[in-house]
Amino acid sequence: MNKKTFYITTPIYYPSDKLHIGHSYTTVAADAMARFKRLTGYEVYFLTGTDEHGQKMERRAVEAGKEPQVFVDEIVAWIQKLWEILDISYDDFIRTTEMRHKDSVQKIFAKFYEQGDIYKSKYEGWYCTPCEAFWTERQLEETCCPDCRRPVEMVAEESYFFKMSKYADRLMEYIENHPEFIQPVSRKNEMINNFLKPGLEDLCVSRTTFRWGIPVPFDEKHVIYVWLDALSNYITALGYLSEDDHKVHTYWPADVQLIGKEIVRFHTIYWPIFLMALGLELPKKVFGHGWLLLDEGKMSKSKGNVIDPEVLVDRYGSDAIRYFLLREIPFGADGHFSEDALIQRLNFDLANDLGNLLNRTLAMLQKYYGGTAPASGTGEPLDDELKNMAFDLPAKMEQLMDELLFSNALTELWKFIGRANKYIDEAAPWALAKAGRQDRLDAVMYNLLESIRIISVLLQPFMPQTPEKIWAQLGIIDMPELHTWESILEFGKFPSGAATSPGAVLFPRLELVGEDRVPVRQATKKDKPQPEREVKPKEAGNMAETEGLISIDEFARIDLRVASIIEAERIEGADKLLQLKVSLGNEERQVVAGIAKHYAPEGLVGKSVIFVANLKPVKLRGILSEGMLLAASDTEGNLVLTTTETLVAPGSKVK
Ligand code: MSP
Repeated sequence: MNKKTFYITTPIYYPSDKLHIGHSYTTVAADAMARFKRLTGYEVYFLTGTDEHGQKMERRAVEAGKEPQVFVDEIVAWIQKLWEILDISYDDFIRTTEMRHKDSVQKIFAKFYEQGDIYKSKYEGWYCTPCEAFWTERQLEETCCPDCRRPVEMVAEESYFFKMSKYADRLMEYIENHPEFIQPVSRKNEMINNFLKPGLEDLCVSRTTFRWGIPVPFDEKHVIYVWLDALSNYITALGYLSEDDHKVHTYWPADVQLIGKEIVRFHTIYWPIFLMALGLELPKKVFGHGWLLLDEGKMSKSKGNVIDPEVLVDRYGSDAIRYFLLREIPFGADGHFSEDALIQRLNFDLANDLGNLLNRTLAMLQKYYGGTAPASGTGEPLDDELKNMAFDLPAKMEQLMDELLFSNALTELWKFIGRANKYIDEAAPWALAKAGRQDRLDAVMYNLLESIRIISVLLQPFMPQTPEKIWAQLGIIDMPELHTWESILEFGKFPSGAATSPGAVLFPRLELVGEDRVPVRQATKKDKPQPEREVKPKEAGNMAETEGLISIDEFARIDLRVASIIEAERIEGADKLLQLKVSLGNEERQVVAGIAKHYAPEGLVGKSVIFVANLKPVKLRGILSEGMLLAASDTEGNLVLTTTETLVAPGSKVK
């Protein structure tokens, strides 16, 4: 039987400037998808590359005082290095300046011409060089490009035109009959209403006023329009119209083409029409994701280090950056990037939830078993919830990934991590050890090891480096059969007798300090894996020295107050956050609270809550937050605000 195949592409990048973290978003997402499909048994072809021709690139090279080829070569090398440090596992990297691409594009152009889809005429109209896009007078917004809002230029030159109108009805019909073709649905509606319904004009597909492009094969003073050149990469990389086109037969049509929302038009109107003209099938899905923004708006190179992916990987590691990008922003929507938000994810999800699960388990294993994994022991009903969740998890994540819901897939994985942490608290291995219930202790520790193994296998597509570190600590690094998808479809494959060894902390908790906001490791004893232990009565006198516990003096440093909520409103673009004003009796504070999913702002005004009054102020989404409301959170992620039993005056101390 033939292996299932999966062809996924990213856009090919302009090597005109170094890329910022927003650019990495498409590629990291495509990589996670490619890795997930490989894990689940598909033969994957993952394509990325660079879009090197066009007027914009020629001008940038002139500005830099370099030949265009020399100019792009340098940046392409940098892009390839960036993908290496972000662990992008592409199968092919196509450059539009390569012979294999240029040959094929010239053949495509000639084919269009021969079959009467292309004719010669004169173009007179507007052109946006940064977007390399033609616009009609009617489409301009206040004489600027409607996509990037920069000034357009008047172009008047002899050109070849592609008869878009010939295919418009077929395309419209196709889009309507294939609801999965353009995703998310909002982008499909935009294409139909803004571009297809008003009527497609024929597209100018050659230029004569600059040279940096692929020459029209039968009329060398023309170069081929850069979008026709660039879009073709998705098939030229497979060897389309070359002597060896077996990959076209194996992989085309693409299963998923990931792109940013600003280039949906090129990919869902021009591209399918070119494919129809070539007699090729259309890609199964084109997904236009949202943008990663900064609090102050769009990313641009002038924003410096905060968005430089190399600097960020250096500071936080590639896995943490990948996790943030995939978890923080629902794919399709716009999202915000900030180092504060990144650190929060790192500290809460990676250090606390994942890191602690591993540390706690291995520390107990050291203490009770000298590190050697026990046999599976005696089960109890308490284990069932954990095991059932583990059993359902792979299929759930697979379904979410098929819908490109990266964040939701990770949320499911983290629910399981949360369940495993709660299982430790409920099963209380320290009490089992004390009571000498060896068989039961074996079961609990075994179930924890197996749960961590399952988590590590499922983490691979998202965070390729972390699983290996976990396997080394679990003592199963040399057992590849335990790293596979098949190995987690059944609970209980963890080898008893494995030699576990607590190693370096996976993700230290970080904080940004000083005016330069340098990330430094938070000083915490929790960083070192410590045996989970019960406090014996005789130790009660020197509790302050007891690992993980705090003294009454330390507790007293937290200034807890009763606060009354006097204003509450939503924050535009942040679906989890509310902006509140609270009264502490003699002063008012502004706070940003992550409770929007649990409380409607209208219902909050007048509520009395417990408030941390001496927390360092931070800016969230650019809004100053001067304190924190306390809320109880269950494993389902539900939040309930804490309050006092009876009404107490705002500002009253809680102790
Ligand atoms: N060269 C064209 C694509 C041709 S495909 C046949 C191009 N290149 S690009 O370098 O400008 O953009 C590459 C990808 O990066 C696009 O998918 C774009 O949407 C994405 N992003 C650029 N900035 C981004 C953010 N700030 N956030 C998320 N993605 C962003 O377009």
